[in-house]
Amino acid sequence: MNQHSGSRFIQTMAGIVLLLAGPVVASAAPPIKADSMGLSKSSVFSVPEPKAYDYPATQPGASKVLPRAYKDAPPQVPHSIDEFQPITAQMNMCAACHGQPALWGQKLEKGTPTPIPPSHYTDLRNAPGKVTQNLIGARYNCNQCHVPQTNAPALVKNTF
Ligand code: HEC
Ligand code: HEC
Repeated sequence: MNQHSGSRFIQTMAGIVLLLAGPVVASAAPPIKADSMGLSKSSVFSVPEPKAYDYPATQPGASKVLPRAYKDAPPQVPHSIDEFQPITAQMNMCAACHGQPALWGQKLEKGTPTPIPPSHYTDLRNAPGKVTQNLIGARYNCNQCHVPQTNAPALVKNTF
């Protein structure tokens, strides 16, 4: 490498460094504040104690049914389910109270469990349209679809 090509090399390198540094300098936006990075109102560096929220303590028969989130949505459980857990192969308290096909189509008095609907007695995969005498296995674990609600406010305001 002679002196001439050496200085050209340095010039080229300096050019590349400027090219690389250019956009960084040009787009230097003000830094994002630590307390506006997430949904939480506090800094990303703080570890706030989560608030405790309550599930309904009302017993079945003393609660009011909740509005459906949308058409055909599984209704939310309005009463406490503490005493009815866990659902096991031997014991399903939910079905014991709600499994009342005789009440289909009847006007229910207050405090009467809403009967498990005909859709839950229909094997939608193998025999859709045929209502059987038995609760279909896919509907056995009620809490897979029906859940109680806490009194927690929505994290983000929404109209859903
Ligand atoms: C002791 C009887 C009883 C047991 C056990 C019971 N429920 Fe209920 N459930 C009721 C009654 C009665 C209502 C009607 C609301 C009320 O009066 O509290 C109801 C309401 C509901 C509703 C709302 C229905 C609607 O029309 O919106 C759902 C869903 C529900 N229960 C699911 C469950 C699940 C899941 C379990 C088991 C974890 C369960 N229930 C256990 C009696 C019972
Ligand atoms: C795979 C999801 C799923 C499971 C599991 C399931 N359900 Fe449902 N349930 C639904 C959906 C969806 C609806 C609303 C549409 C309909 O009526 O079929 C519903 C409706 C209901 C209703 C309201 C009936 C009415 O006339 O308004 C009751 C009561 C109910 N289910 C009880 C139960 C119980 C008790 C169990 C457990 C033995 C159970 N469900 C298991 C999805 C489920």
